[in-house]
Amino acid sequence: NYYAILMAGGVGSRFWPASKKSSPKQFLDILAVGETLFQTTFKRLSRLIPQENIYVLTNEDYVDVIKEQISSIQDDQIVGEPAMRNTAPSILLGSMKIYDKNPDASIVVAPCDHWIKEEEDFITALEKAFLEVENNDKLITLGIQPNSPNTGYGYIEYDKDETAEVKPVIKFTEKPGENKAQEFLDAGNYAWNAGIFIWRAETIIANFKTHLREMYDLFAKAEKLLNTTEEKKFIKENYHLAANISIDYGIMEKSDKVYMIPASFDWNDLGTWSSVQSELPADKDGNTLMKARVLSKDSSNNIISTSGNKLVVIQGLDDYIIVEDKDVLMIVPKSNEQGIKEWRKTVMDKF
Ligand code: GDD
Ligand code: MG
Repeated sequence: NYYAILMAGGVGSRFWPASKKSSPKQFLDILAVGETLFQTTFKRLSRLIPQENIYVLTNEDYVDVIKEQISSIQDDQIVGEPAMRNTAPSILLGSMKIYDKNPDASIVVAPCDHWIKEEEDFITALEKAFLEVENNDKLITLGIQPNSPNTGYGYIEYDKDETAEVKPVIKFTEKPGENKAQEFLDAGNYAWNAGIFIWRAETIIANFKTHLREMYDLFAKAEKLLNTTEEKKFIKENYHLAANISIDYGIMEKSDKVYMIPASFDWNDLGTWSSVQSELPADKDGNTLMKARVLSKDSSNNIISTSGNKLVVIQGLDDYIIVEDKDVLMIVPKSNEQGIKEWRKTVMDKF
């Protein structure tokens, strides 16, 4: 009864301009390991979940690249969304589709922009979570030990004295501001949300019914059409009507059924240039070169990525991100890396 929903529809906007609407980061071999983030994630999940039970939710523009990257995948396992509505609508739709196939299904929802070092430990945590949700209406998330006041994550407050492996969550706060994030880090009883969720299909659908009622009502109209030839038409005509909201704001912050399993594996959300840098080798001054030829002097801890053969020369430059990608040359301080999103918005999809 194990299923997966693989979330593969984001644009990776903080990783612009290398990641963009026409080629988002999940379909790139960002870490230069010989496969894309999407391929790595699919492989990792198929260690525990039968391949035919892995559903991929993505933008309709990426359906073909998904088929190219996983040749064994069937059409029925891919849902192409005609509009960007963030993660809540995709997760509801995917869960209803799976529930229609198997009302006893348990689902892991996984993003595909993550790097996980100890896969064994990851699989063990997943198994534990699956066993737990089988007889419980719990919404389980995997929690990561935080090491910085990162504002790009969800924060999970839990009771430090709780000895159970599956810990009740006191409060879930998605992407807090800088002060709050620092406060949470100092408090010592907060974990980062890994964005990997485990629950029964039935449970998550019930939570949508309670917390995102309009969205539930919208997709409930499709109940009889899912997994039939009518499904695509319904999605085409109705998907854009769903609210644009993430599962974190829409359900996890609101539900009182949230639990956490602390993760014992090394995890990295490859969300920003610095997080990618921490998984790549650097030169003696801490500069990381991604397909880049660089001459540097008195410069340290920069990330430099180019698409071509241009020689990059830097002097007296520290902690910068320099990315050259065909049409764009971006130079921003690392301290502003969460703000790269905004630059992408400014130029929209022109670049
Ligand atoms: N199908 C689909 N449709 N997938 C989407 C969409 C969409 O409209 N938008 C985003 N995704 C996918 C992304 O490709 C990614 O794999 C996953 O959903 C999560 O979206 P992100 O946009 O990367 O979220 P985030 O990184 O800002 O925040 C989430 O992940 C953090 C950990 O990496 C939250 O869950 C945070 O709480 C969490 O800490
Ligand atoms: Mg992310």
